[in-house]
This record gives sequence, C-alpha cells and structure tokens, in this order.
Amino acid sequence: MKVGVLTGGGDCPGLNAVIRAVARRSFTRGHEVVGVREGWRGLVDGILEPLGGSEISGLLPRGGTILGTSRTNPYKVDGGVEAVLRIFEREGLDALVAIGGEDTLGVAARLHAEHDFPVVGVPKTIDNDLSGTDYTFGFDTAVYICTEAIDRLHTTAESHNRVMVLEVMGRHTGWIAVVSGIAGGADVILIPEHPVSIEDTCKEIRSRHDRGKDFSIVVVSEGYELEGGGDEAGEVDQFGHTRLSERGVGARVASEIEQRTGFETRVTVLGHVQRGGSPTPRDRVLATRYGLKAADLAHDGRFGRMAALRGDSIVDVSLEEATAELKTVPEDWYEVARAFFG
Ligand code: F6P
Repeated sequence: MKVGVLTGGGDCPGLNAVIRAVARRSFTRGHEVVGVREGWRGLVDGILEPLGGSEISGLLPRGGTILGTSRTNPYKVDGGVEAVLRIFEREGLDALVAIGGEDTLGVAARLHAEHDFPVVGVPKTIDNDLSGTDYTFGFDTAVYICTEAIDRLHTTAESHNRVMVLEVMGRHTGWIAVVSGIAGGADVILIPEHPVSIEDTCKEIRSRHDRGKDFSIVVVSEGYELEGGGDEAGEVDQFGHTRLSERGVGARVASEIEQRTGFETRVTVLGHVQRGGSPTPRDRVLATRYGLKAADLAHDGRFGRMAALRGDSIVDVSLEEATAELKTVPEDWYEVARAFFG
C-alpha cells in the first residue's frame, strides 16, 4: 500500500508525533509512506515527498509539522477537488491520513462522502473543539503553556496590586480559557459559550478587593463577545474564518475593567506561543496512539473514519459525525470554573 499523510490548518504540538506513528506502523507492514506538503495545497498542486526512516527520526518531541501546513480548501479553489482526485491517482496513493481540525477534516469527510475518497482522520487542534473525541492532541500543551503564564502573572499582579487580563486562543469555544483558568486559579474566566458581563466581572473583582485581595487574574478567550458589540469583521480565510485575535478582546476587557473599577489593569495576549514548541508527554502519547489507530484504519480500508479518544480508549468514529458541529464547553465544566470566581 502507498499511504499519504497531510497536516492541515493551524499547526499544533504533536503533529510530528502522529506522522512518526503512522509511518512506523505502516513500515512494519511493508507499506510506503508519502508526505503531502502544506495540507490540502499539496494535493491541489501536486507537492509530495517520500517519507523514510531518516525523515521520521527525532520527531517525537518536535513542535510544528515537518510537512508544512496551510488553510487551503480545495472546495474554494477553481478545479481544486478534481486536482486532488487526479494527483492522488497520479501518485499511486491507496489511502490518505488527514491530520487536522474541523476544516481539514471537514474537507476529508466531504471528499469521502461525495467521491468515496479513501481517507481517514486524526483530530488535531489546540482549541479542543472537535466533536466525536474527548480530547484533540495539542490541547494539553496549550493548556500547560497558558497555565504557566497565569502562574507568572500571579506574582507580578500581586506585587503591583493590579488586575491582569490574559487573552488566550480557542476560536469560538472557551476550552483553553476554562481549563487553564481552573488550573491557574483565575478569578474570572470569560468565554463565548457562557458570557458573563463586564459589570459582573467588575463585581467579582471588587468583592475580592473588599476581602483584602488587591490583585485579580481574568482569563478571556479570544472569541468572547463584549456586550454592545463593536467587533470588526476582518478578512475571511478559505474556510470562512476571520482572525479573532484582531478583535483585541483582551485589551478591550482590560480597558473596561480599569475604567469601571479604577484598578490598574494590564493585558497579556499569549498568541502563537500557545501553539509553538514541544508537546507535553500527554500530547506525545495521545498523538502516538492516534497515529497508530489511523494507520490501522487505513490498512484495513476503513475509510471515512477518524481516530478518537473515548474515556481512556482509542476508538474510531465517522468523520461526518466528528465534523458536524463544534464541541462547546458544557455548563458543568463552566460551573467548576465559576465556583472560584471572585
Ligand atoms: O485553531 C487554532 C488557532 O490557533 C485558533 O485558536 C486561532 O484563532 C487561530 O488558530 C489562529 O490562526 P492563525 O495561525 O492563522 O493566526
């Protein structure tokens, strides 16, 4: 068999660990493995490279993706889908492992449904917003980085009696904010799914001050909507997403808090630091287990499926089901966070 592998969408710690696991398991079976460069763009433009033992060596701790990535959507490129099908056949590929989030895997699901395309998926994203799996790989690393940032902000906040606002990624869900906020002991966590108003946020901060706590940490997810709107609609990518970081929600929350409470406030925007560097041990192991599962699904011809985590077990679910809707933060998770507000 000739198995192709691609990584699409935003990069994420653990991508290389998946590539390594797919390749190692496929090599044991005598299969060839081919890397598709830069996500779906590699299949639209025909940019592929063979992956052998030396290419996949030393990958486990390495951040980013050795294959490169892009947000190319073949359905938005003239003749894109035809090109994908033609190049896949021209290269003599028998199966494709697509490693990505809802966008990359959404394309995989559609190609499978419409063209019987032989693809299996691996759930990647720091945002953890993909249905069908308890966790995506990359999330744990992002949470670790944000938690460390919150710990560091605590000491400087305390020294200066300041309110520190930390803006984290997560797109339209607040998983990173909620989990790192709980882990770091944030005093208020603002996410798109369970909007707490700025006035209620200020109330929590004032009540801390009344109890003698002269500093506060507020974690805000980039997709949080301030009441009164004012959000600019920026440039849209091929999957219809705008760059949420451009809205500057962290700075706006900080300025509202300072104006309303009179407490000195600073903002930190963590940005792409959350996606860079080496994966945590947990993400390395999860990525490895997903990679082995994806290689097995491809070998067994079980196309249209995605490796997934349910409890502590690796299972497979349909790509269609996994990409049908975003996995948002449920109320009971937010309740855990809220128990420590103020
Ligand atoms: O989906 C991962 C993610 O990091 C989001 O959390 C964030 O909104 C977006 O990608 C940033 O995208 P870009 O790397 O294109 O700025």
